[in-house]
Amino acid sequence: MTENAIEIRALRKTYAGSAKSGPKEALKSVDLDIPKGSIFGLLGPNGAGKSTLINIMAGLVNKTSGTVRIWGFDQDSSPRQSRLSIGVVPQELNLDAFFTPRQSLNAQAGLYGVPRRQRRTDEILQAIGLTDKADAYSRTLSGGMRRRLLLGKALVHDAPVLVLDEPTAGVDIELRQMLWAYIRELNAQGKTIILTTHYLEEAEQMCDRIAIIDKGRIVAEDDTDNLIAGTGAKTLVIHPAQPVTGDLPELRGVTVERRTNGALAFGYLKSRHSAQDILDLIRKAGISIANLEAEEPTLEEVFLQLTSARAEAP
Ligand SMILES: Nc1ncnc2c1ncn2[C@@H]1O[C@H](COP(=O)(O)OP(=O)(O)OP(=O)(O)O)[C@@H](O)[C@H]1O
Ligand SMILES: [Mg+2]
Repeated sequence: MTENAIEIRALRKTYAGSAKSGPKEALKSVDLDIPKGSIFGLLGPNGAGKSTLINIMAGLVNKTSGTVRIWGFDQDSSPRQSRLSIGVVPQELNLDAFFTPRQSLNAQAGLYGVPRRQRRTDEILQAIGLTDKADAYSRTLSGGMRRRLLLGKALVHDAPVLVLDEPTAGVDIELRQMLWAYIRELNAQGKTIILTTHYLEEAEQMCDRIAIIDKGRIVAEDDTDNLIAGTGAKTLVIHPAQPVTGDLPELRGVTVERRTNGALAFGYLKSRHSAQDILDLIRKAGISIANLEAEEPTLEEVFLQLTSARAEAP
C-alpha cells in the first residue's frame, strides 16, 4: 500500500471557454504527492488553479490528461472506489434551498450508498453545530452555517481523505477557530486533510506541508517550516528617523509594507537582491534610518515572493 493519500502525475486541464474568451489552460502538468495523515495546504493567488485541481480530484471536473490516484485507486480504472475515498467541501455554496440540513445530509448519504443504519446524521449535525437548525430550510441559514453544512455533507460517507476549498471564506473569527479545531480533530482521528485558504497565517499554523500553485504550475512544495526557511525570502525592517508620508520607494522584486508603528518592511529574495540593494533604495528615497532589523519571513512573505516575483522575472 502506498504512503500517499493522493498521487497526481502530469495533470493538465484546458477549459474550452467561450468563443469570446477562447480556451484557458488552468493546469499545466501538475505532479503532486499528498502524504497520508497530513494536513496539506494548497495555496495560490486567485485563478491559480486550486479549485480546478480539487474539482478534478472530486470528480466534478474532467481532466484533459494525466493520472490521479486517490487512496491508491486510479480515477480512470477505479472510479467508484476513488470517489468513495474522498469527501469534498466545494468553494461554491451550492445547497438546495428547499432542503433542511437533515434532509441534505440524508440525501448525500443516499447518493453515496451509505446504508440507513450506518448513517451518522445526528452526530454530524452536532459536530458542525447545526443541531438547532436541523429542520430549517437551507435558504434560511446564514453564510457561515451554509459553509458548515457543506462540511457536514463531505463527512457523510466517512472517506479517509477530506478536501476543503476555502472552508473559512466569509466565516467570522470565532467560527473559523471552531472549524480549524474540528479539522484538527478529524486529522487526529486519521483523516488526511487537503485545504485551500487565502488566510496564510492560518495555513502556516495548520498545515504540515504546503504546495504553492501559480498560473497552473506548482512553484514550491515542502514541509511548512522548510518552505519558509528554504526559499531565501528575507525581510528587512527599517525604522525611519522621520515619518515617511509620501510614496514608498519601489524596486522590482521587492515588496514594501508600511507598518502601523511607522516602520517599513522590505521583503526580497536572497537570490535576486542583497540587503545592500535595499539600503541603497532607502538612501535614494532620502529616508534616514533610526534603526533597522532583519526578521524571519512569514509564510505570507514567502508566498508573495514566490508568486509575484516570479511573475515579474524576465
Ligand atoms: N468552467 C470554467 N471555464 C473556463 N475557465 C475556467 C473555468 N473554471 C475556471 N476557469 C479558469 O481557470 C483558471 C483557474 O481557476 P480556479 O477556479 O481553479 O482558480 P483558483 O486557484 O481556485 O482561484 P480562487 O483563489 O479565486 O478560488 C482561472 O483562470 C479561471 O478563470
Ligand atoms: Mg478556487
